[in-house]
Amino acid sequence: MSSSSSSSSSLSRSETFSLFSLTAACVGILANTFQGDGEPLIASLALSGIAFSMCFAMIRWLGPTFIKAGLKGVDMSKHHKKEIPECMGAVCAVVYLLVLIVFIPFPFYKDIVAATSGGGNRDVMLHVEHVQQGRFLHRFPHSKLASYLSAILCLQSIAILGIGDDLFDIRWRHKLFIPAFACIPLLVVYFVDFGVTSIVIPIPLQPYLGELFDLGSLYYVYMACVAIFSPNSINILAGINGVEVSQSIVVALLLAFNDGLYLLTDYPHPATDSHLFSLYFLLPFLGVSFALLWHNWYPAKVFVGDTYCYFAGMVFVVVSILGHFSKTLILLLIPQIFNFIYSTPQLFGLVPCPRHRLPRFNARTGLLEPSITPWTPERQPKPPIAWGLKMLGKLGLLRVTLDEEGNFVETSNFTLLNLWLVWRGPLREDRLAVEITVMQTVVGLFGLFVRHRMALLIFNADNWSITDTSVPV
Ligand code: UD1
Ligand code: MG
Repeated sequence: MSSSSSSSSSLSRSETFSLFSLTAACVGILANTFQGDGEPLIASLALSGIAFSMCFAMIRWLGPTFIKAGLKGVDMSKHHKKEIPECMGAVCAVVYLLVLIVFIPFPFYKDIVAATSGGGNRDVMLHVEHVQQGRFLHRFPHSKLASYLSAILCLQSIAILGIGDDLFDIRWRHKLFIPAFACIPLLVVYFVDFGVTSIVIPIPLQPYLGELFDLGSLYYVYMACVAIFSPNSINILAGINGVEVSQSIVVALLLAFNDGLYLLTDYPHPATDSHLFSLYFLLPFLGVSFALLWHNWYPAKVFVGDTYCYFAGMVFVVVSILGHFSKTLILLLIPQIFNFIYSTPQLFGLVPCPRHRLPRFNARTGLLEPSITPWTPERQPKPPIAWGLKMLGKLGLLRVTLDEEGNFVETSNFTLLNLWLVWRGPLREDRLAVEITVMQTVVGLFGLFVRHRMALLIFNADNWSITDTSVPV
């Protein structure tokens, strides 16, 4: 490791060579896609490679600039409490949005060529004679473009919120609802374009409720709740090096895997377009996220900031709402849902919630231990809460320390990371991150298995293996 700040913020010779080669190969592939129909999926892959290289280099170069601007944080789980750049998710978000904007022509390349006979002025569409002469702009898939643009608008809003939060530390009760505003463009497009608000009823309940149950406008409330939940839930499953990014990468990979299942069917699946759309958003996200993980993994050289957590959560919301698989997303966020429900005693103030609940670093052993909330004889939990805490302690869901008189001395903080340490004993920081990531992968794969296989036990059909599009997905 080099000690001078200038060399730690520049790329090594081999890194420069690797990034340069990757970029050159991707530019070549990208240029090649124009030979055919613009092959959007290949173009998206190539642009994701470019996004990785750009993001990797910019995170490295901009570190000192971020520190100078005050965007820095102390790594609390290290011997040397060094300050490192914070809010590097902002670099990812900017690179990602630029790449998505550059990508706009690709999925529409075929339509642009067909509609304008090689590109041209949209106004001409007004003249019927031109339409007859081969300009077919009325056939252009404006609704697909609207979906795409609404997604970009939504992600831009959330990036602004995240950067605002990293700069000004917005209070969580204020920032909680901002994702709900950010997702309005998505909901409008969903309403105009798809509009399905009914859910399939499981077979045992069908005699009472019928095959489909229309939730009506409540379905939009539900989607807004998913939009609020997803970004915030990633932000609170955080606090050790790498875990924010690794959980997001796992969710993105599993969503991409799920998309792949729909593209690989023997016949063109009716949901192919939705899943292609989802891939166009997930591949560049994976590109920027791997570049960030490289720098954020133990021992972290940068922090991701709230920008990354909100942004990642919103990418999942965008693809799952516009791809019409928001319930699948919920299955992939089971660890985050557990962490949120488990956190509620502290989030809702039943148990005091310190500013930071991340695991405690034991400087003597170099290992992480569960962080705690201390209690004093004067400040004890109210009787029903005390009963609840003792129950959780008995069930092995909390570490509770009592004195001889039965007074609470300390309880571990209510996060999944602390609970994992209660179960597994002290762990090194990277070991804990690996275990949480593996757990997220296993639970996610199980979620997908339930979605596509077990669903057949209680539903009539799984939309992956059917051609009947009348069943909402
Ligand atoms: C959320 C959690 C908080 C947790 C924090 C850690 C809730 C309600 N809030 O708050 O309990 O402590 O995330 O990210 O659950 N940090 C490290 N090592 C890391 C990552 C972060 O030491 O690997 C520290 C750094 O000092 C960094 C700070 O956490 O500057 C970032 O915290 P921030 O993201 O602002 O906290 P919140 O998202 O508000
Ligand atoms: Mg945070």
